[in-house]
Amino acid sequence: MKSDTKKGAIGVFDSGYGGLTILDEIRKRLPEYDYLYLGDNARAPYGSRSFDVVYNFTLQAVKYLFDSGCRLVILACNTASAKALRTIQQKDLPVIDPKRRVLGVIRPTVELLGQLTKNGHIGVLGTPGTIQSESYPMEIRKMYPDFHSYGQACPMWVPLIENQEGNGEGADYFVKKYIDALFSQCADIDTVILGCTHYPLLYDKIMKYMPKGVNVIRQGAIIAESLEDYLHRHQDIDGKCSRNGTCKYLTTESAEKFKSTASVFLEECEDVKQIILI
Ligand code: DGL
Repeated sequence: MKSDTKKGAIGVFDSGYGGLTILDEIRKRLPEYDYLYLGDNARAPYGSRSFDVVYNFTLQAVKYLFDSGCRLVILACNTASAKALRTIQQKDLPVIDPKRRVLGVIRPTVELLGQLTKNGHIGVLGTPGTIQSESYPMEIRKMYPDFHSYGQACPMWVPLIENQEGNGEGADYFVKKYIDALFSQCADIDTVILGCTHYPLLYDKIMKYMPKGVNVIRQGAIIAESLEDYLHRHQDIDGKCSRNGTCKYLTTESAEKFKSTASVFLEECEDVKQIILI
């Protein structure tokens, strides 16, 4: 572990490419900081993996980012936030380094619901892992005990995007299928969380099949705002985040493959290095 006085980049972790939609919004809002993105692309998707596997992979990634100097790591992945965040915060951080922080994407998203819903009926679209974990309903119950939530797993959406078929005609079938399945649970849902970092890339098609007037929540801007707020409130952590406006990328896949697929999510992505997580 590096010296405690040294400043480091803000770590952003995702199972694959989806977290780039979050990183993009964070960099727009907080361009002065340095960022180190880690995509576990060789082992993605995490969406259908068991609790223990997602936890172990995520912990390996967090340790790698810490060893690379990060003081603060954002789990920009709903599946990792759902299955690994709490254990890492409660069990691992006190042992690894109690002064470092790991934050997720679920809580900041849920916090916003009170401002958006009129009737308290919330839909959550996510990977099978995120939906099965019940993390969203648990967080919603804690914050808004009167709300009702309905989860729908969308196992085909991430593969469609990763295979660059998100804009193809075949995608329409699966987008409509899962939205219909969500609203068949409750026709009164007035707010829907896109609870997976990939889903903003399907936004146009999602809106095509979404009933009119429903609020659809994309997480990028929300996470960026909540990070800014967090850094204001935690000057000790903020003071340990370096500010040269750089962004570097780590991937468990080949750097060339990462650059080529990342171009679907980001305009520019140059400084990419392949790593092994163990
Ligand atoms: N990034 C993940 C999430 O937000 C989805 C991709 C995966 O299944 O690994 O849930």
